[in-house]
Amino acid sequence: MLPFLPFTRPTLDEETIAGVGEVLRSGWITSGPQVKEFEAKLSAFFGGRPVRVFNSGTASLEIALRLAGVGPGDEVITTPLSWVATSNVVLTVGARPVFVDIDPVTRNIDLDAIGAAITPATKALLPVDLAGLPVDRDRLYGIAARHGLRVIEDAAQAMGSSWRGQLIGSFGDLVSFSFHPNKNITSIEGGCLVMNDESEAKLAEQYRLQGVVRSGLDGMDVGILGGKSNLTDVAARVGIGQLARLDEFTRRRRELAREYFTWFARPEFNALGLGMPVADFTQSNWHMFQVILPESGASSRRAEIMGKLHAMGIGTGVHYPAIHLFTLYRAAGWKDGDFIHAENAGRNILTLPLFPTMADADVGRVVTALAEVLQVSRQT
Ligand SMILES: Cc1ncc(COP(=O)(O)O)c(C=O)c1O
Repeated sequence: MLPFLPFTRPTLDEETIAGVGEVLRSGWITSGPQVKEFEAKLSAFFGGRPVRVFNSGTASLEIALRLAGVGPGDEVITTPLSWVATSNVVLTVGARPVFVDIDPVTRNIDLDAIGAAITPATKALLPVDLAGLPVDRDRLYGIAARHGLRVIEDAAQAMGSSWRGQLIGSFGDLVSFSFHPNKNITSIEGGCLVMNDESEAKLAEQYRLQGVVRSGLDGMDVGILGGKSNLTDVAARVGIGQLARLDEFTRRRRELAREYFTWFARPEFNALGLGMPVADFTQSNWHMFQVILPESGASSRRAEIMGKLHAMGIGTGVHYPAIHLFTLYRAAGWKDGDFIHAENAGRNILTLPLFPTMADADVGRVVTALAEVLQVSRQT
């Protein structure tokens, strides 16, 4: 039998692994010179904008909300189809998430529906580039400008994606990324925030480490309440090795995505009735390749299909169940039927294997296995 094909897998090269060894032997393993270097390289990558790194994308988002002054009494407009971190951070800072359904084609927040959700309490827009497909930045910033709103881009999945030729993160308001191992580049855990100016960056440093401000050799003060979300030098060294390879990774992901489209376009696979992602090979970084399974009645057979694929040596994932239907969110008043497109995706979306070291032939293996499983599942 062929080796198990996971739905994702980080690509860590020997040079990076050796570099981590050097950091471990250096005598300085937490935040230090590697963090500074990683931040400088990220800033250069994003066209010179200030960047700070954190120990997670979640911390980066939470700090972005604090920098934007979002707190109790404020509303933040976001999508129900994301990793739950996106809206959890809004709750963490004491504000209220206001969900707007997705556009079923892009699977990102429906920009046409945002206007109706804006109230006098709305402080910010928090869109997500699901699977790396960018939200329309022209329309997004048009809405924000018309209503005087801050934008916190949850670009956790969009490292290397672009909008009209400009890298996501190189323009805009506050732009947050994640370096979780499943992301297009990783620092094992980690994230970064691209900001507007040095004063925001200084404040982000305070939020990142207990609110501390140092001066001279021995001066220390704490003016605001900060947390503990600094990145280690060991993690930063991994991130440095990864950033150097991002363009190569993105190219390969786009090739593999094209390969999926070629396979799914064949009549026998096209007939499966799968919902396909947007075929964008210039802007998306193809963080994930996700199909929407056909629903049988109102019930999803996703778990059964995933189990059968697993038995055939193929890993899949679910990204994501609709956030508003989690117990915590239902308790705050959301219910079934509130956002039908996100709910349909939440029940039926399936992430297929896609990572840079995957072979072209693996794509054919996935598509034929999925077709076999779906055909059998239809007959039973
Ligand atoms: C859309 C989105 N937002 C936020 C996060 C949070 O990032 P992290 O897991 O690094 O905290 C992730 C990734 O996990 C994500 O995919």
